Amino acid sequence: MAKQPDIYLNGRFLPLEEAKVSVLDRGFLFGDGVYEVIPCYAGRLFRLEHHLQRLDNSLHAIRMTNPKSPAEWEEILTQLTRQLPGADQSIYLQITRGCTGKRDHAIPTDITPTLFAMTQPASYPDAATLANGITAITLPDNRWQRCNIKAITLLANVLLRSEATDHGAAEAILIRDGQASEGATSNLFIVQQGEIITPPKSEHLLPGITRDLVLELANLHGMTFIEAGIDVKALEEADEIWLTSSTKEVMAVVELNGQRVGNGRPGPIYSRMANYYRDYKAQLQAGHEAT
Ligand code: PDD
Repeated sequence: MAKQPDIYLNGRFLPLEEAKVSVLDRGFLFGDGVYEVIPCYAGRLFRLEHHLQRLDNSLHAIRMTNPKSPAEWEEILTQLTRQLPGADQSIYLQITRGCTGKRDHAIPTDITPTLFAMTQPASYPDAATLANGITAITLPDNRWQRCNIKAITLLANVLLRSEATDHGAAEAILIRDGQASEGATSNLFIVQQGEIITPPKSEHLLPGITRDLVLELANLHGMTFIEAGIDVKALEEADEIWLTSSTKEVMAVVELNGQRVGNGRPGPIYSRMANYYRDYKAQLQAGHEAT
């Protein structure tokens, strides 16, 4: 088996099996921490600035400050990715509040955060899945009110996603107060009469980096879009449904709750966007500076 790349933990690069964190770490005890998943295309970190800004926002929301500057993070992550030269990778970066010698919910004043990052070869959706689309079900959004924080506390998302899998679906689209917010692990778009619609940023969804890029591409290529609420009826009657994330990229949902979406194939607007996305990524892979 190929050697696993070393991981980064608290200032050191070391083999995975040598990496140790205390069982009293608040990440382990309380899920008290935040994370990022950052794609790296052909050795180039994808939208690092955007990911680090979201990391800062998440940290601020949980009353922490970023222990590293953007330049320091870039250095650490670049060193990690150099282990898989030129490869497409997915970086996981996690900061937990750290550990004192006891278990106490209240946030301690004097505590050193635990910093962890690792890289793995990217596993994209395969060509057949992209071409044929995926299925989804709707489920009540039973998560908390601060879904804009990229918290490691993901039990609700884990259970929702598993419920989708139990129904043979690839993703759960979440409904809160009659409005579809996002997927359990992705952002949501629909197409209605040629117009692309995605819910506006709020505490009910994660501000996805892929979501922002899709809107930028729509803008760049003169595609009509709005940020507006999507109620259940609009979702059920949508001509197209898409889901986006750093690992899924842009995927078409072709069946919702057992009913065909549109004609049951990825739609024409999706195909246009998927091409723009693929071209954008190809430019990065070829070494062109796309921002
Ligand atoms: N998740 N919404 C939720 C709830 C998510 O978990 C994710 C991504 C997104 C999309 O965000 P982005 O485009 O920045 O990846 C939206 C990551 C990939 C994960 O938890 O593994």
